[in-house]
Amino acid sequence: MDCTTEPHNIIVDVHVTGETPESARAELRAGLLATPRTLPTKYLYDDRGSELFEAICELPEYYQTRTERQLLIDCADQIVDLTKVEELVELGSGAATKTRVLLDAMARANQLRFYVPFDVSEGIVRRVAQELVNEYKGLQVHGVVGDFLAHLEHIPEGGRRLVVILGGTIGNLAPQAARTFISSIHSELTSGDFFLLGVQLETNIKRIEAAYNDSAGVTGEFNKNILHVMQEMVGATLNPDSFEHVARYNTTDHRIEMRLRSNEHQTIRIPGLDLSFDLEKGEEILTEISTKYDHPRAETLLEDSGFDMIKWYTDPDELIGLALARKP
Ligand SMILES: C[S@@+](CC[C@H](N)C(=O)[O-])C[C@H]1O[C@@H](n2cnc3c(N)ncnc32)[C@H](O)[C@@H]1O
Repeated sequence: MDCTTEPHNIIVDVHVTGETPESARAELRAGLLATPRTLPTKYLYDDRGSELFEAICELPEYYQTRTERQLLIDCADQIVDLTKVEELVELGSGAATKTRVLLDAMARANQLRFYVPFDVSEGIVRRVAQELVNEYKGLQVHGVVGDFLAHLEHIPEGGRRLVVILGGTIGNLAPQAARTFISSIHSELTSGDFFLLGVQLETNIKRIEAAYNDSAGVTGEFNKNILHVMQEMVGATLNPDSFEHVARYNTTDHRIEMRLRSNEHQTIRIPGLDLSFDLEKGEEILTEISTKYDHPRAETLLEDSGFDMIKWYTDPDELIGLALARKP
């Protein structure tokens, strides 16, 4: 682990390195040889991917960010009052734009001491840490650059904590992986700690599909960014222009599936993985799922992992849900 101390109120721990460990290579190989061929979603988010995701959040079609933000504005004071926490830990924190709504409410209640942004993308953790200590006087930021599926034990010890996951990040995990993840969050927390889980709710399919097929093509660029990451990380020889962005709703599994479709028959060589395979014209690689929940499914996910559900918040159109839970 690389632990960098910056100005006295910022610490950043780095648990992922620039090298590609054998475990990551094995995961990539297994995904690319699976049916359907799959690339882990976390590789969408290098520094450029994080910037593209920020741009997606501003798109007119991407209703999720503005709806979740307004919902947080409506309920943040109550959450802070109910939980009385002084430490906020955010898993998959990204640009932490909406997090400011919670931090503002904690500051209003004179409860803001400590923020832990936890993300796989180092650039954005460092940027957010610097921005937030400038914005909030007296705030301590302890950033963690890591994989939240592997490095949760590195969440720093603190007082009573509120762990949050926003932006539909939980939806990127398949059902069993989501259950395992929430159970490991439960194991890391202390009795009396709180958990706020943001979920995107199932709604009109046309509206959902439009959010992932924006007219400006930003989501397509974001999706193709994973090919650039594969070129850099493991030396993949491929032409990103020979792929097309595809996002379709799967009604059976309640989720958007984002894929890259090959426009031609091609051979992909990946020296860093000792791998070479053929892609047929029209063959697709799955890069992201975004599962849409409803209230009962969100509650079951939390309660099956040992949390007590305390409060369910939703917007008037029921597009976003925020489930507040506590470890008993
Ligand atoms: C859908 S974005 C949400 C960002 C932000 N929370 C929001 O609400 O806009 C998912 C975030 O999770 C991060 N992420 C994805 N997989 C991760 C993993 N396995 N470990 C840590 N962070 C991850 C990405 O880098 C990205 O910032």
